[in-house]
Amino acid sequence: GLRCVVTGAASGIGAEVARQLVEGGATVAALDIKAPDVRVDRFVECDLADPACIEAAVDELGSGWDVLCNVAGVPGTAPAELVMKVNFLGLRHLTEMFLDRLHRGGAVVTVASMAGFGWPQRLEQIRDLLATDDFDAGLAWFRENRPEGNAYNFSKEAVTVYVMTMGLALAERGLRMNAVSPGPVETPILGDFEQTMGKDNLDGVRDLIGRHATPADIAPAVLFLASGESSWINGVNLGADGGIGGAVVSGLI
Ligand code: NAI
Repeated sequence: GLRCVVTGAASGIGAEVARQLVEGGATVAALDIKAPDVRVDRFVECDLADPACIEAAVDELGSGWDVLCNVAGVPGTAPAELVMKVNFLGLRHLTEMFLDRLHRGGAVVTVASMAGFGWPQRLEQIRDLLATDDFDAGLAWFRENRPEGNAYNFSKEAVTVYVMTMGLALAERGLRMNAVSPGPVETPILGDFEQTMGKDNLDGVRDLIGRHATPADIAPAVLFLASGESSWINGVNLGADGGIGGAVVSGLI
């Protein structure tokens, strides 16, 4: 089976990804600030907001892995810098430290979000952020150039573009990196999205397609991009939103 590291495996989408991977015969190490309830082979405690913690976790994990699933994230109700640290800067730091630990043929799958759909409007800013060398430089950039609006959206826009550029960068190393972008999913952070988006807006999105997603709707897309079955898919952002991405394009939301 595949040897996989899953961040955010203590809750929500990450827990379901870990559960389905284990069910399919994979070896799974969970990386989170909290211990997971689902059965995994290893738990490595790690705060993705802290680069030193990330480096220690990567050391502890050792080498010989096939897959990194970046699922951990914090909602826009958290302080803006924490949102940027966990959702983008720490994710990038972990990914870049971990690449040497992946076998050729390995894959990185990152859960971004439909909230990142606005990336084309901020591509110049995002390129500037991506040009920063490391976690601290990225944080300094964010402090000086803080984009308008909720940091959650910007963090997801940045991670979407990051994944798209990394696919190409990794191809010659025989590695792949793709993203899955869910719409609203029934997890503990849905209430936070109600606060940042407005309950009426979130209900309106739900009513367009009849229900919100559950983690079980999202995890198979992550598993597909983690597996060799997606071997020629690289640098792609796969919507897993039940179709509501179309409502963005047509201006309904
Ligand atoms: P969740 O709150 O159920 O799970 C998030 C996990 O990340 C938790 O296990 C938490 O302990 C971990 N985490 C938080 N801060 C951390 C840190 N500093 N270091 C390490 N781990 C940390 O949330 P959910 O919904 O499962 O979210 C997973 C991903 O899906 C996130 O990246 C989120 O932005 C994304 N997403 C969620 C949507 C939703 O509607 N629930 C919609 C679109 C994207």
